[in-house]
Amino acid sequence: MQVIDGKALSKKVQTTIATQVEQLKQEKNIVPGLAVILIGDDPASHAYVKMKAKACEKVGFYSITHSMPDSISQDEIIATIEMMNANPRIDGILVQLPLPSHIDTDKILEVIDPSKDVDGFHAYNVGRLVTNLDAFVACTPLGVMKMFEEYEIDLKGKDVCIVGASNIVGKPMSALLLNAHATVTVTHIHTKDLASHTIRADIVVVGVGVPLLIKADMIKEGAIVIDIGINRMEDGSLVGDVDFANVSPKCAYITPVPGGVGPMTIAMLLSNTVKSAKERI
Ligand code: GUN
Repeated sequence: MQVIDGKALSKKVQTTIATQVEQLKQEKNIVPGLAVILIGDDPASHAYVKMKAKACEKVGFYSITHSMPDSISQDEIIATIEMMNANPRIDGILVQLPLPSHIDTDKILEVIDPSKDVDGFHAYNVGRLVTNLDAFVACTPLGVMKMFEEYEIDLKGKDVCIVGASNIVGKPMSALLLNAHATVTVTHIHTKDLASHTIRADIVVVGVGVPLLIKADMIKEGAIVIDIGINRMEDGSLVGDVDFANVSPKCAYITPVPGGVGPMTIAMLLSNTVKSAKERI
């Protein structure tokens, strides 16, 4: 069994990005810029945004965070996004989700200029991903693909079971895996018998936010298990959606929580922002 080290891979990617940023500065006088829009006071969202801003600073980006209160109107958020769309110093715009319930998330995401949509949530980029055209791809599933590449995990013809069908994780993950010629099953909350699908899979990718949902008897011997869940327990500890202690002995590869997919999400956000900056030249 091998534990996939997302923390180390994320560092490696960030070092490469820092070099690219330095080159862009020297040769083209360009500094990639990321704008983050943060609404309300959800502690997890604040923590994520702080990590993103810190990572931007480390690789030499220009970054700004627009923090707005819960009471902000949809029109004011849209006005801020439009300002960022028009700002030539900004290559990437990220609206931290989830948004307060009085805001129409779909409407907000549609306002982001698709060429600055470094989260890959705009329908334009989702459509391009599904048709296997060059696109901005959601950072978490993209980070999982980077892990497969780094660990030379062949996807062609593999039976992959995705647990969770969200717009942020499960759906883009399924498109990426299909594009890589895997045979993909997407399960979700209404799936009748989850274990009957996971047990058959060569690779299981889980992102639902249910602590320890995936147990040892749901996984085939020698499978690869990717855990996208991050759940904070009452005692303050972080656990994934996979019962790591009992599942890991059966696996060929498994990602830990923390230190697995989480750090890759930030690395891919930086990578998407550099891609955007280069495409703007
Ligand atoms: N909320 C949870 N994950 C994400 C993400 O990848 N991007 C944004 N913008 N919000 C999130």
